[in-house]
Parts: sequence; structure tokens; C-alpha cells
Amino acid sequence: MERIYTTQRWDMADLPLQETLFHNANGYLGVRGALEEGLPQGADTMRGTYINGFYELVPMKQAEKLTNVLEEKESMINVGDPQGLRIAVDGQWFHQLEGEMLSYRRSLDMDAGITSREMVWRSPKGHQVAISFRRLASFVLPEMFTIDCRVTALNFAGTVEVESTQLALVRNYADPNDPRLAHSSQCHLVPAGHVFKGDASYLSVTTRHSGLKLTGGVRHWTDLAPSAARWEYDPQEHQAAYRCTFHLEQGQSLRLVKYCVFADSRRSDDTLAHAMTAMEKGYGRMDWLYEQQRLELDGFWKNAGTCIQGDGEANLSMQFNLYQLFQSAGKDGLCSIAAKGLSGEGYEGHYFWDTEMYMMPFFTLTMPQLARKLLGYRYLTLPQARENARLLGHKKGALYPWRTITGQECSGYFPAGTAQYHIVGDIAYAVANYYIATDDRDYMIREGAEILLETARLWMEVGHEYQGSFRIHCVTGPDEYTCIVNNNYYTNACAQHNLRWAVRAMELLKQWGAYERWAARLQVEPGEAEAFAHAADIMFLPYDEALDINPQDDSFLEKPVWDFDATPPENHPLLLHYHPLQLYRYQVCKQADTVLAHVLFGQLERLETRRNSFAYYEKVTTHDSSLSNCIFCIDACRLGLRAKARSYFGDSIKTDLMNTHGNTKDGIHTANMGGCYLAVVSGFAGLELEENAIRLNPFLPEDWTGLSFRFQYHGSHLAFDMEGDGYTLKLESGRGVTVHTPEGQYQLEEPGQQLAGAVAGAVGQGG
Ligand code: BGC
Repeated sequence: MERIYTTQRWDMADLPLQETLFHNANGYLGVRGALEEGLPQGADTMRGTYINGFYELVPMKQAEKLTNVLEEKESMINVGDPQGLRIAVDGQWFHQLEGEMLSYRRSLDMDAGITSREMVWRSPKGHQVAISFRRLASFVLPEMFTIDCRVTALNFAGTVEVESTQLALVRNYADPNDPRLAHSSQCHLVPAGHVFKGDASYLSVTTRHSGLKLTGGVRHWTDLAPSAARWEYDPQEHQAAYRCTFHLEQGQSLRLVKYCVFADSRRSDDTLAHAMTAMEKGYGRMDWLYEQQRLELDGFWKNAGTCIQGDGEANLSMQFNLYQLFQSAGKDGLCSIAAKGLSGEGYEGHYFWDTEMYMMPFFTLTMPQLARKLLGYRYLTLPQARENARLLGHKKGALYPWRTITGQECSGYFPAGTAQYHIVGDIAYAVANYYIATDDRDYMIREGAEILLETARLWMEVGHEYQGSFRIHCVTGPDEYTCIVNNNYYTNACAQHNLRWAVRAMELLKQWGAYERWAARLQVEPGEAEAFAHAADIMFLPYDEALDINPQDDSFLEKPVWDFDATPPENHPLLLHYHPLQLYRYQVCKQADTVLAHVLFGQLERLETRRNSFAYYEKVTTHDSSLSNCIFCIDACRLGLRAKARSYFGDSIKTDLMNTHGNTKDGIHTANMGGCYLAVVSGFAGLELEENAIRLNPFLPEDWTGLSFRFQYHGSHLAFDMEGDGYTLKLESGRGVTVHTPEGQYQLEEPGQQLAGAVAGAVGQGG
């Protein structure tokens, strides 16, 4: 299977979207696919380059002073512009929007890990040139981004001039009317030195307030000798430009490679030295970089390859989504995955619960080492989570921030931010899930158990016992159109799971002889585990007998239902058209909430209650968040609502490639991408993991002919393949695995052994 996404469209209105779709990233740096030659003044472009976890502190001023509400947040900033590369043929500067474009093709090759733009252009004077740009953000040398340019003189002999720029004092993108973007556009950087070393230029900058430093370097390689070549540095603007001239015969080509590196002070003490070393490693080795990129991706697809047969569009989107997850994931343990990855400035580069609940399952199942790094980021920020808990008045435990970069709370609007305490249970869920999938005891002992303990402690602080059950008040669940409520079903179910897993982790540590020292270090009190277990046992989970559903919270059903008929389609997402309080007073959900709880903790409820709840929430959910359709898809699979499951999947899978939410120009929707993977693996294939066994309950949507993926469980590699009415699960390597299917229990003992099954019958009727 070839994984290539191509477009031949290039009108101005599409360019910001293409900047996102064709961005290059590697988990450390991300460069949007802006045009090398630039755009006319005033054109909409987010010409950004980002470093994962590199931020500035910006004001988050409250209109009225609210005690212990922070007034400063971290915001991912645009760190420079290495993209400028202008070409003139016989004095005519090439531009997509001038002269005549005779052919145009833009591609993302997900096997090779490169993007490209290939054009044949006729200048206003009639010179025809073939120009191509291939770009790569290296997976093996994460500091490096390259632009590999070729210019061929098709119908003339003459001069080709190149002007390659390196800008340091760039601004951030802003939209004052969209709460999902920064409010004002600013340059957050100040000059901190410039060095020419040989034919490379290095520009350093520091942030104004966060005290971070960054060095960017640029050096060029050409296959023809330039007749003139020189760097110029402009101290006023703190920018550099490299200009060179060539003579081309008709039919002759020039190849010019622009090697760019970045190094930042969160990862190295001497950013200049680090940038120079990275440049030395990669400079002049374009073929090696291409080869390594492909090797890295071969490994990625081998482990993570997931294929939908019979629906080419859905399959291409699937490949796109998985590739983007890999591009976006921080791989050094110091950072995580932002809601928009490294593709744009939406949500200011913040990490949310998106990582743990929507993306981690993909990494846990396909790249457990990377999953551990991502969890490692949460362990690293546990001290800040403890501090945050104190700020909110909790004497014990850790309260993870709703959105953050380094661990401090960065949500300016606490009702739909900090109040989402469920993030605590979400992180605990990811810890438990990772352990269940990997049996990684070392992780549990060193980091996991501590997170489970500290998060469980928080629930004991937040909740209280009332009339024989454990209640949690004044929190916001995943649905951001219903804020600050009592006993949000999802939150309570999550807390229950968290408390139970804290107890389980303590048991495991005891079994492994690792408990005593650990408990002493963390000052575990006698009876603490019993208290957790008791709170979990008596956890209040709202239930309405008359409707036989789980209400989203204590007051949800008392509210009138939002008037959906009177809401014009252009008023979606509602958050951009209605005052929050107006939304809060109605039964209207932005996204899956109780339905998500049922997907994760389905065993808590009877099938009938889940089915009724699904039907109920379907009617009041707008799916204004891209985190929603995929979850409805999984629940529909579990409830046997096959046609519905397929339709929810269809709405989810193309979110970015088809720009269905209309805002992909601000960046990709990484949570939705992980959610689509979950929909396939945990929805259609019905894969669920337990501590000592796995479960499968697959079905294939009618218009698909097959579905296959690979995953890992307890270090063993397994391959799932479904075609028509039958499927197989093969143990490819590793130790034996117990598998439960609707047909019975199986034991895969030896590598090479496989089980074959028939697709399960529907439990309910498709809608
Ligand atoms: C959703 C949140 C999500 C955030 C970042 C919001 O629109 O409601 O659940 O965490 O986007 O993706």
C-alpha cells in the first residue's frame, strides 16, 4: 500500500489549510507548509515554526481579581522563519500567483516522510522552469529541517538567482474573535547574538519573560558552483539572507539544499554549540537523511500499520491520521502531544486530556516505549500538579492542570478549564492502561504507582460521603457546554477507576516486594488504601429510573432541552455564537460525556441502560468538538448499532483531510486522530485489554472488505486481520496470550499460531 496524499489545488483560500496538511514535524520541531516564495501582504497565512514545549509566558488577565486564579499562562510561540527561498529566472521572481502555472502538484509521502511541491511555471516574460521543493523534518536528527530545491531551465538559458532568508523576530498568529486562538499577534523574542561560521549563519534569540533561549542555524549546499554567493546580516531586524547566482543552460538543473537546525535551552545548556553540532551531523547528507527517514517510517508502519480495505478515502485518512500522530508526539520525555500537534497555533500548543484518553491507546498498543515517554512527561510534572492542588485548597494529592506546557495551569476560563478535574482520572486511566497492556513492572514501581496514589488522594480531597455514597461536587465533565455541576457521571466513574487502581498498584507493589520503601517515601498512612476502596465502592453514579439512563450529572435532566430546530446550521459550533451561561442552562452537549464513560467503564451498567443513554445523548449532542463522533462510533459498535457506528466513523475520520470542522487551517485535531484509531481497534475490532487476557468482538462495516492492524500486548506482537465474515488473530512473536471472543476462550501459545473466528452477530439494530 502506498501512503501518499496529493492535491493539485492551489487557490489562495486553500493555502492556510494546506499549510497545516503539508506541515513537517518530528515531535520536536514542526514547520507549517507555507510557500517558500511568500505571499502578498495581507494574505492569510500562519507562517510558523514551532518547538515542542518551547513557550513564552503571556498575561491571562482576569477582568476581576479572582483569588488563586493564575494570571499568566504558557503559550507556544513561533520561533523563527527558515522557510524563505526565492528564485528568480532571468530577473523574474517566481511566484505561484504570478505568471502562469502550467502544472502543480503538492504531496505528502507518508512512507518517505517528506512533503513536496512540484510545478512547471511560465514567467510573465515566457521563461519556463520546473521548480520543486521537497521538505523533511528529520526523525533521526530532530533538530534538523531541510528544503531540497530543484530548478530546471526548460526553454531558455540564463541566470537563476536565489535568495534564502533566515528570520528570527517572527510574530505569532492571532484571531481575537476565536477563543481557540491567541488574542493578539506579537513577537515574543529578542535578539541574543548572531554568528557566521563558515558558510552557515546562526541566529540566537531569547524570550522576553520565560527566560528561554533558542538558536537557529542555516547552511546551503548546491550541486553547481554559484557565480556569486554571500550572506548578509541585518542587525536591525536580526535576520540574515543568503544570495547566490547561477547560470543554467537550457535543460540544465540546479539543486540547492537548505539545511536548517534549531536548538533550545530546555534541552541544552549551550544552544549555539548544540545547533552547530546538529548542523555538522546532517549537513551535506541529504541522501542519508532521506534513507533514515524511510527506515524510521518502515519501522513505524510495521508496528502501527492499520488498513481499511474497500474504502480508499477512509483508508487514506487513516494513514494520514496515524502519520500525524507520529509526527506530533514528543519523544524526549520532556513534552507531550499538543491538541494541534506541531502543525499550528490553535490552543497555543497546550497539552490536554486529549493525549491520555485519545492518543495514548495508539502508542500503548503500537509503540509502548514511546507511550512510556509520554507518561514520563506527566511524572515529570507531578510536582507542579501537587502545587496546583494546594492552590485549589487541597491538602493532599495532585491536581493536573487542564491545559499546560510545563505543568502549570494555563486555562484562563476556569469553569470550562480547571474545573475539568476528570483530567486527574484520565491520566490515572492511561497509567493503568499502559500497565495492563505492557506488564511493565519497572514503570509501575518507579512512576506509575505514585501517579495513581497522588491522583487517588485528590479524589479523597474533592469528594465527600453523603447519605452513604461518595459525591463529587463543583466539577466540569468532558462536555464543555455544561459547567460546574455535581456528580458528573464521567468524572465519578473515572474517579472510581482511579481509586481502585491506586489500591491495585499498592497490592502489586506488595507482591513485588517494592511496597515498604515506596510507601515510606510517599507517607502512605495506615488505612489509606482501605479508604480509597471504600470511596470507590460507594461512588455515586447518577441513574434515572424513569428513563433508565445515566444522567450526565445531578441537574442535567432538570434543564430544558436546547431548541435544536431553531438553531441554524451556521450557528455551529455553538460556542462561537452563544453566551456560555445560555448554553449551560440547557440540555445540550458539545461532546461525548456519559457515552465516553460507558465506552470506558461499560461493565458498570446494564446493556439496556447504556442503549437508552446512547439514544438519549444522541439527541442532545452537537459534536461541536472533534473528540465526540469517534466515541459515539465505539459505543455504537459495542451496542451492535452497526449502521450508526459506520456513520459516526465517517464523520470523524475525514475531519482534517476534508476540513469538516472548517478550522484545520489552525492545525490538525490530534485527539480525533487517536479517536479514529480507537474506533477501528476498540470499536470495529472490539479489542479490549485485561491484566491477563485480551478480548475481541469484531464486525466489519458493510461497505468495507477488510480491516487489519498490528498491536502489542505484554511484549508479544499480534496481527489482526478481518475479511468478510471471518477474522484471524496471529501471535507473531513473544509469549503466549489468552484471548476471549464471543465464541470462547483461546490460547495462542507459540509464535505463528493463530485463531480464526467468525464475525459476531449484531446485538442491537442499526439505525
Ligand atoms: C474540547 C476538549 C479538548 C480541547 C482540546 C475542546 O474543544 O472540548 O475536550 O480537550 O478542545 O482539543
